[in-house]
Amino acid sequence: MKIIKSLKSMRALAQQWRREAQKIVLVPTMGGLHEGHLSLIRRGRKAGDKLVVSIFVNPTQFGPREDYSRYPRTFTADKQKCREGGADVIFCPTAEAIYPDKFDTWVSPDVTGSILEGAARPTHFRGVCTIVLKLFNIVLPHTAVFGQKDYQQCLVVKRMVDDLNLPVRIIVSPIIRAADGLALSSRNAYLSPARRRTAGVIYRALCEAKKAIKDGKTQPALLTREVRKTIEGESEFQVEYVEFADPQTLKKQKTVQPPTVVLVAVRLGGIRFIDNLLIK
Ligand code: PAJ
Repeated sequence: MKIIKSLKSMRALAQQWRREAQKIVLVPTMGGLHEGHLSLIRRGRKAGDKLVVSIFVNPTQFGPREDYSRYPRTFTADKQKCREGGADVIFCPTAEAIYPDKFDTWVSPDVTGSILEGAARPTHFRGVCTIVLKLFNIVLPHTAVFGQKDYQQCLVVKRMVDDLNLPVRIIVSPIIRAADGLALSSRNAYLSPARRRTAGVIYRALCEAKKAIKDGKTQPALLTREVRKTIEGESEFQVEYVEFADPQTLKKQKTVQPPTVVLVAVRLGGIRFIDNLLIK
């Protein structure tokens, strides 16, 4: 497994692979790798001939008061996981190489980027789209793998691929959860053991909502209230939003009916956690 920092070397290798008719797969990450990322890497391994995992904590998708500086950086352990998952290359550029001083061009999603997570984090998806497009242009993948854990991110990236006619196939890979249902996330490391023990309530609330919908409940206000009550009643998490939305457009459903996706954001001690459940 090669470790490449230089943008030029990464692009040269990708071009060589393309000349050899190798199919290139990219799994973009910010490191702090866990089983969720590993599932994407394994999925990616099967999707082509050459697998690149990028590890780059992208400063431009963090807001000014967010956790960029204390985001988990665990390169030694990450390397081991990438090797286990069968990566050919870890691409880990520096922030200075990706965003030189003269940098001045952004990819900014409009409607899909300004609702839900985009409303709470106004420049977040601009940062995501810009880095993802840059990674596509450097790694030249035929296929890229993203996790359903970040449901809106998948949609925003797919929208960008369609809107900008990018020749990249997007694979969405399922959410990997801990035994109590908490979606694995690099940010879970911020939770104290006591708070971690209550965090399973987020997924439990989503499952209860699914059951309520299957039982014929359709009013978003009522369903939302129940999710809030469960989470806030059984933990210190504060619910920022609960939304029942169209899985393709993320438009709020006035009458909740499958297919629907329920999306939640909760916060605790200044850190946000997101989760979702697709109800078919
Ligand atoms: P990061 O949070 O490191 O996540 C990298 C990829 O792993 C994303 O596609 C995310 O959805 C997926 N992932 C995270 N937790 C998961 C879980 N529990 N189950 C399945 N997949 C999971 O998302 C980003 O980085 C960045 O925004 C990035 C796309 C790399 C751009 O900077």
